Amino acid sequence: MHPEIEERELAEPYLGGLLASLGLGVHFSRAEKDTLFYRDDTGREVPVLDLVGGYGSTIIGHNNPDIVAYAKELLDHGVPVHAQFSKHPYANELAQKVNSIIRRELGTPDAYSAIFANSGAEAVEIAMKHAEFDRVAKLARLAEDIERNIEKARVAVAGGAEVVGGESYEHLGADAEGNRGTAEGRPGSALTDVIATIRSVNGERMRAAPVFLAPEGSFHGKLVGSVQLTHNVGFRTPFASLAAQCRFVPLHEPDALAKTIESERRTLLDLAVEGDTVRVVERDLPVIAAFVLEPVQGEAGIRPFDRETAERVQQACAAADCPIIVDEVQSGMGRTGAFFASSHIGLQGDYYTLAKSLGGGIAKAAMTLVRDSRYREEFELVHSSTFAKDAFSTLIAGRTVDLLEAEDGRVYRMAAERGDRLIRMLRKLQDEFRTVIKDVRGRGLMIGLELHDQSGSTSQVIAEQSRAGLLGYVLAGYLLRVHALRILPTASATNTLRLEPSVHITDAETARLESGLRALLVALRDQNGAVLLPTDPAGESGA
Ligand code: F0G
Repeated sequence: MHPEIEERELAEPYLGGLLASLGLGVHFSRAEKDTLFYRDDTGREVPVLDLVGGYGSTIIGHNNPDIVAYAKELLDHGVPVHAQFSKHPYANELAQKVNSIIRRELGTPDAYSAIFANSGAEAVEIAMKHAEFDRVAKLARLAEDIERNIEKARVAVAGGAEVVGGESYEHLGADAEGNRGTAEGRPGSALTDVIATIRSVNGERMRAAPVFLAPEGSFHGKLVGSVQLTHNVGFRTPFASLAAQCRFVPLHEPDALAKTIESERRTLLDLAVEGDTVRVVERDLPVIAAFVLEPVQGEAGIRPFDRETAERVQQACAAADCPIIVDEVQSGMGRTGAFFASSHIGLQGDYYTLAKSLGGGIAKAAMTLVRDSRYREEFELVHSSTFAKDAFSTLIAGRTVDLLEAEDGRVYRMAAERGDRLIRMLRKLQDEFRTVIKDVRGRGLMIGLELHDQSGSTSQVIAEQSRAGLLGYVLAGYLLRVHALRILPTASATNTLRLEPSVHITDAETARLESGLRALLVALRDQNGAVLLPTDPAGESGA
């Protein structure tokens, strides 16, 4: 290799430097259950308790032995990983398994068809694309309907009916200015003018981009489309011109969703024959492609929605015929004590997106489920991906679902029980460190520990890092270096530390976590920033 190249860091070089400066530039070389191992300078293998769990991808632990054995078996048997455009019975089996869980947990008789993907953001974008596909098809049907009504109006006027502009027509904006006032008095030509206006106004309105709605704080991925559903301004706004826009709704305000839906209401013009008059009327134009939400918001700082909010969402969306996309990429697959976190709050989606733990911690598997009543088969001919639905990841996902469902849902019970223990321990710390811990939230093994704002700390380090929004990462570096604990803040709320271990986390590990956190909380309470920083400022020599 060219020496100049050999010396340079070329794989996301900026991030590498940032991690090193935070004391997070550690290379883990082995993993099992909730432990990641790295080798220190002396070559000794150091175990780190991992509470990040691949950001929630390892509900059954790192390198789960059943999944590893199954993966080896698949490779040993020469299962064809790539066989696109052929029959994939295992994909159907996976879809059937997930459907039977939907039936059990959400109590719906509806079936959901599955489209496969490689990542969470891709699963979300499939849902976005499908919702838009459906919306565009509805627009086409509306346009055909209006053309039929125009023909009926022509027949009526030829038979002597009178054209009345009607309120909708009279109140048209500047786009119909030129034609206004010609509607009445001169039946034949009036109808021609009215039709021209209707077609031009409708054409323009139908070309308007769709709008997505999501709760404030949402995180749905970072691809071109999904990043527009991600509330975080830094992630989203540089790319705003590339995709359809989202309006973010403060869901804690009871009327916010219904009001937002109402404010996005748009209409098309149509003609209605009533006796011997032809009147211009308005028809609802579907502008909102979908409402998207995470049942437990992850990146916003682990914030579960409650049943009352779910009911309001369900009602507002049903009234507007607005599909609901339930993003279970992070909250699903048992993490909250049920396969679907939405099942705890009775929220039923038209779409579900799954990824992360679906791959059992080994494969990159993701899927989007679409309720039959909204499903458009033609979508399958306009959407595909080389890697999606491949035998390896789909079979691994199927086996993962079997493991989750085994022994009457033992994994779900473990997630709930282990999560309760963790939350109890954290609440105890909260009682002890009231000035430092603001809140402990979560469900099952999706837990957030929110710290009070530390920007007023008398420790310069703590105050400065807090103001820069980096304190959560500095604390992560400290916990890794000093306590061999891996904990990271949530991406859009860096004052919240996330805990998403696997169901295998033991009492001894919980006790280790408690003692590391206690030391951290003492440092913050006593405003002792010095202990939080690495003595080796490059932080590269391991934790
Ligand atoms: N939806 C949710 C709810 C997520 O939490 C994520 C990712 C995605 C979609 C996108 O999935 O990364 O596979 O494309 N959350 C990561 C996290 C970034 O930090 O938890 P992806």
